Amino acid sequence: MLRNSLPKIVTSVPGPKATEIIERRAKAMPGAIKCGYPLVIERGEGAMFEDVDGNVFLDWVGGVGVLNIGYTNSELVEAVKAQSEKYFHAMMNITTHEQYIKLAEVMNEIVPVKGNVKQTMFVNSGAEADENAVKIAKSFTKRPNIIVFNGAFHGRTQMTMAMTGKKAYALGMGPFPDGIHRVEFPNLYRAPKGMSEDDAIAYYVEKLEHAFIESAPADSVAAIVFEPVQGEGGFIPAPIEWVKAVRTICDKYGILMVTDEVQTGWGRSGRLFASEYFKEAGCAPDIMSTAKSIAGGMPLSAVTARKEIMDAVPVGTIGGTYCGNPVSCASALKVVEIMLRENYPARALEIGEKATRKFKSWADKYGVIGDVRGMGAMLGVEFVKNLETKEPYPELVNEIINAAVKKGLVLEAAGTYGNVIRFLCPLCVTDEQLEKGLEIYEESLKECLNK
Ligand SMILES: Cc1ncc(COP(=O)(O)O)c(C=O)c1O
Repeated sequence: MLRNSLPKIVTSVPGPKATEIIERRAKAMPGAIKCGYPLVIERGEGAMFEDVDGNVFLDWVGGVGVLNIGYTNSELVEAVKAQSEKYFHAMMNITTHEQYIKLAEVMNEIVPVKGNVKQTMFVNSGAEADENAVKIAKSFTKRPNIIVFNGAFHGRTQMTMAMTGKKAYALGMGPFPDGIHRVEFPNLYRAPKGMSEDDAIAYYVEKLEHAFIESAPADSVAAIVFEPVQGEGGFIPAPIEWVKAVRTICDKYGILMVTDEVQTGWGRSGRLFASEYFKEAGCAPDIMSTAKSIAGGMPLSAVTARKEIMDAVPVGTIGGTYCGNPVSCASALKVVEIMLRENYPARALEIGEKATRKFKSWADKYGVIGDVRGMGAMLGVEFVKNLETKEPYPELVNEIINAAVKKGLVLEAAGTYGNVIRFLCPLCVTDEQLEKGLEIYEESLKECLNK
């Protein structure tokens, strides 16, 4: 069974069939939708997929966090089939369908935002969820500004492009919405030289407070929006003491704290949501957005907040034709059931610990790894040319990724400098597959260093 198999390469990568489809791709669709790898999938199961030439790959990207539960899951297939046989679509503005309500009830139980009475709305993508989180925060506070961070990634709608840090994702797309103010994200590895962790956190908190003087008065700020672990930005976890300080600032000035759990959600962090760690530390967010693994690959995303916040949104300003599609909701209900039953968060911790141990041993051996960091099974390895100067090493990262894919392991880069390799392996991976992936990764690293 593909689900339990190991990587196996039987042609060159890409093989002849994949090459032909990639050539057609170049003609049929815009090149601006990046083709990162010449991989053409035939079928997928668990953490593995087979391409059209019969090559078998272990996928450590998983749709950038979409496939925590794997490529296919028989229970999800059944749930999707059963719902499809009843109806594909019902627009909540016109016809109420119960799948939406059931899923909203579940989300209101499991999402760790502040408040006892919560409500959830559904949209279709991570960007839409983030954009709606901002709309909701503005409606509640009646304020025009938001604060976001360097290195943030929130999507590709006009609002979320403007919220995203890296301008390569927004080239030539302006003018952008006003009222978006950017502050330094707490990056402990790249904090000013010689600073202790405590001093670095104090430094980043001061930078945040300075925004109220320099760019937007505190009483004009609706929300502070951040990822619990920056994804695109380089897998940088927000230190808990910094999050506590953000919560205090939000409480002081009546600002809403919004966590973007599009990538960190659904077991990845070692909790169902990373915001659970924040709640446990007394700094739960007011609004949380999530997407990616929510419905196992069916398009769906969600925004959850306490009812008092949701009640402030004017009728007609949120929602949309496909939002909360019944087939997607049926799939998501099954995802939650499986994740809780099989304790996916605990598995993420197990996977994360194993991988972290390995990555740290390479840091000692090879002298090109500056930092190994993350939360649960969302890990980043930062490659540098010099451990002292921390000069980024994106060339090596590209070589490792190319070498690994040729051996059947799919990896992906991240970070402002493109010098971080992300670890987002599906949480349904077997121990044997995980070991094999680590073996291929190390072989690729050694091969590239010995060139
Ligand atoms: C943290 C975060 N927010 C938002 C998005 C945007 O999600 P989507 O591509 O579904 O619009 C992403 C996508 O990678 C993400 O990682």
